[in-house]
Amino acid sequence: MPLFAILTLFPEAVEPYLGASILGLARERGLVQTVAVDFRDFTRDRHRTVDDRPFGGGPGMVLRPEPIAEAVEWLELRHGPFRKLAMCPSGRPFRQELAGELASAERTLILAGRYEGFDERVREELGFELVSMGDFVLSGGELPALCIVEAAVRLIPGALGDEESAVRDSFAGGALQLDHPHYTRPRVWRGREVPEVLLSGDHAQIDRWRRAAALHRMREVRPDLLSNQPTNTPH
Ligand SMILES: C[S@@+](CC[C@H](N)C(=O)[O-])C[C@H]1O[C@@H](n2cnc3c(N)ncnc32)[C@H](O)[C@@H]1O
Repeated sequence: MPLFAILTLFPEAVEPYLGASILGLARERGLVQTVAVDFRDFTRDRHRTVDDRPFGGGPGMVLRPEPIAEAVEWLELRHGPFRKLAMCPSGRPFRQELAGELASAERTLILAGRYEGFDERVREELGFELVSMGDFVLSGGELPALCIVEAAVRLIPGALGDEESAVRDSFAGGALQLDHPHYTRPRVWRGREVPEVLLSGDHAQIDRWRRAAALHRMREVRPDLLSNQPTNTPH
């Protein structure tokens, strides 16, 4: 069963999310193991210090390497080696492809930084890959870490109620990178009607409409994805 461990100073922020909805159910069903580990528990001084001032000066504090390294080593001693990701705005962008890799990995450890981030030697010494959730700065890596766990776990067979969902999602690897718009009841809402074709029962036509709608969205919001299109995509 895949194991995801999140190293954080705020396990109380992470744990409720790991226990809720799809993630919580996957854990209950024994499809995945998830754990939040507080690396402050691996400090050795009276004040349980995890940070210090940056060498070279400048604002903010930096996470010291020792408690992080000790937490990682404790986890690896208990479970075996982990693939290690450190959340960092200057890492490589997180993509669905990595979620897929992690869904079939045995053990993944995700370091959630705080303050100005962690001492660079942590990455060098322990072999962390730096991963970013996007071109913005949060106050901590907890939300990015949870995004990664959630994106990976929903790809584990049995985690979703309907296996088809993950296969048909955006970025699932099909020709179209974005999902099409969805509609449900009521048929008319505030004067807005569901597109007629979706009520037709003609699955070939519905499929054509959905592909065209997804392509239209790509043109509008993500033209960068169009370069991956095969030439026979409907227009
Ligand atoms: C305030 S940020 C540090 C920002 C860092 N000094 C910088 O300018 O790149 C604190 C922590 O939040 C997390 N974080 C913030 N934004 C992130 C993002 N876009 N992707 C991944 N992690 C992020 C990282 O773990 C980071 O160490």
